[in-house]
Amino acid sequence: MCGIVGCILKEDEDVAPILFDCISKLEYRGYDSIGLATFSDNKIHIKKDKGKIIEVDNKLNLTDMPGSFGIAHVRWATHGDPSKMNSHPHVDEENTVAVVHNGIIENYLEIKEKLTLEGHVFKSETDTEVIPHLIQKFMDEKFDLEHAVRKTIEVIEGAYAIAAISTREPNKIVATRKDSPLIVGLGENGYYLASDSPAILKYAKDIIYPEKGEIVIVDREGVIVHDEFDNVVNKQIETINWTPEMAEKEGYEHFMIKEINEQATAVTNTLTQKENIQEIIDDVGDLQRVCFVACGTSYHASLTGKYLIESIAGIPTDVILASEFKYSVNTLNDKTLVVFISQSGETADSLKALDVANQTSKTLGIVNVAGSAITRRADYVIQTQAGPEIGVAATKTYVAQLTSIYLFAAVLSKNEELLSELEKVPAFIDEVLEQDDFIKELSKRYNYARDFFYLGRGYSYPTALEGALKLKEISYIHGEGYAAGELKHGPLALIDEGIPVVVILPPGDNYRKTMSNLEEVKSRGANVLALGAEGDESLKTKADVVIPINPDVKEIIAPLVYIVPLQLIAYYITLEKGHDPDKPKNLAKCVTVE
Ligand code: G6P
Repeated sequence: MCGIVGCILKEDEDVAPILFDCISKLEYRGYDSIGLATFSDNKIHIKKDKGKIIEVDNKLNLTDMPGSFGIAHVRWATHGDPSKMNSHPHVDEENTVAVVHNGIIENYLEIKEKLTLEGHVFKSETDTEVIPHLIQKFMDEKFDLEHAVRKTIEVIEGAYAIAAISTREPNKIVATRKDSPLIVGLGENGYYLASDSPAILKYAKDIIYPEKGEIVIVDREGVIVHDEFDNVVNKQIETINWTPEMAEKEGYEHFMIKEINEQATAVTNTLTQKENIQEIIDDVGDLQRVCFVACGTSYHASLTGKYLIESIAGIPTDVILASEFKYSVNTLNDKTLVVFISQSGETADSLKALDVANQTSKTLGIVNVAGSAITRRADYVIQTQAGPEIGVAATKTYVAQLTSIYLFAAVLSKNEELLSELEKVPAFIDEVLEQDDFIKELSKRYNYARDFFYLGRGYSYPTALEGALKLKEISYIHGEGYAAGELKHGPLALIDEGIPVVVILPPGDNYRKTMSNLEEVKSRGANVLALGAEGDESLKTKADVVIPINPDVKEIIAPLVYIVPLQLIAYYITLEKGHDPDKPKNLAKCVTVE
């Protein structure tokens, strides 16, 4: 989704370079347009256009703008094509109010119609443009900026985080939110607003999290938060423990490859959550059912959770896509633990489901971003310790989610053996990463491919789904994950000469049956890439190529290790195709609309 930033400096220095630096860190939230608005000489100055940040900056020199406060935006188009006109910030006709917005205003058409009848003239196709017009209208009616924003949110429906500045009340930014993220940073040199913490890590560590409907007023003196009755809210200040370097590429070509290489650390750090998990389990008490709710990659982590909890803890477990959750609501009760898995903690579909689940059941969030909406609304929280993830395709947060789920299942079933297996995972991951050059070379073989199949059984089935998702989201090659045993019930018809089939074959109970499936596809001409135990000679003779994994990686923990080569394959194939793996077309890292 879009990203917004606001900043007001305590001293009279130019804010544009800082705004630009902050908004650049949110490029993963939107990369079809960028825009900045600053204030000086009684005027709002705007530079904006469609295109990647670097392209627009080369054209417009975005850091060269006057003024010590302003707002900025990166766009991921929803209403109206990417274009200069549709880029944020949006203004009223007289350029007295400028606004950046993340979210969707659902009733913008009727507002636009009404305002047009009142004489307002609109320039863009966006839903956002109604906001500066409404604020201007209310300021014309003698409301100050804060109350004009308050009146505006009484009119608009939908999801929003907005930040507004006005020529009529300089040296002030007013912001508010509902169902879209917004944080406020208290820095040494100034005050900040942002959609997500990587934007401001360099400038502010102390953070306030505004709640829905609260109005944030930022000026040079500080930050005040008002509730809907204009009362001052005493907000808790929380300190982020991420460092600015964590949100930098640190010498890697892309965030994705950096994050793939950080996976052993993500597992090690997440294993520290064991005590917290024990406390959660003790507090939950009698647990008769677990229900995972998630989207995308987090959904695949949840599927692994179902296999694990059902097989080692014997507790019935369901996995439901957040966007389909409403059909299961009648089956929930107070003996069900509903677990929301989310990297961002802000996914709109998951939040909607969480509000529903909170009415009947205990809820647990497994979330990477501290302070995000899921962490504030769920009864219990496990924070995955992956650090900030910037690449749109989730990698290290996936293994950190899996680690949390494995810990949860192991603690729940008091399975010491599984706990000690988990300790070995970081070393296994690092061994796979040592094969980086080999996998890079290997990836060149698939330049011709238009479709890929990924096969796995049991614990390896969600790995097949996740491997296929990684490939399709960044390389734009069609990839399909299948339960190996299901192939013969339809998709086998699609296996032709040369089609790449990735078979996940860790040593264990499912090995022989999956091997038969490998032979089925091989005999129909597939080009088989197998992932299996190093030293498995029979696999070597049957597959076209094998990526060897340490034979001590048992089937049960294979999801944590076998996903790594699949991420690398997707990454290198994407580079071969000439695409940017960090910013796949049409996708956003955090989806704050349903
Ligand atoms: C988007 C991202 C995916 C992610 C999904 C769920 O679609 O592009 O990478 O898996 O949202 O996000 P969450 O933050 O809830 O894990």
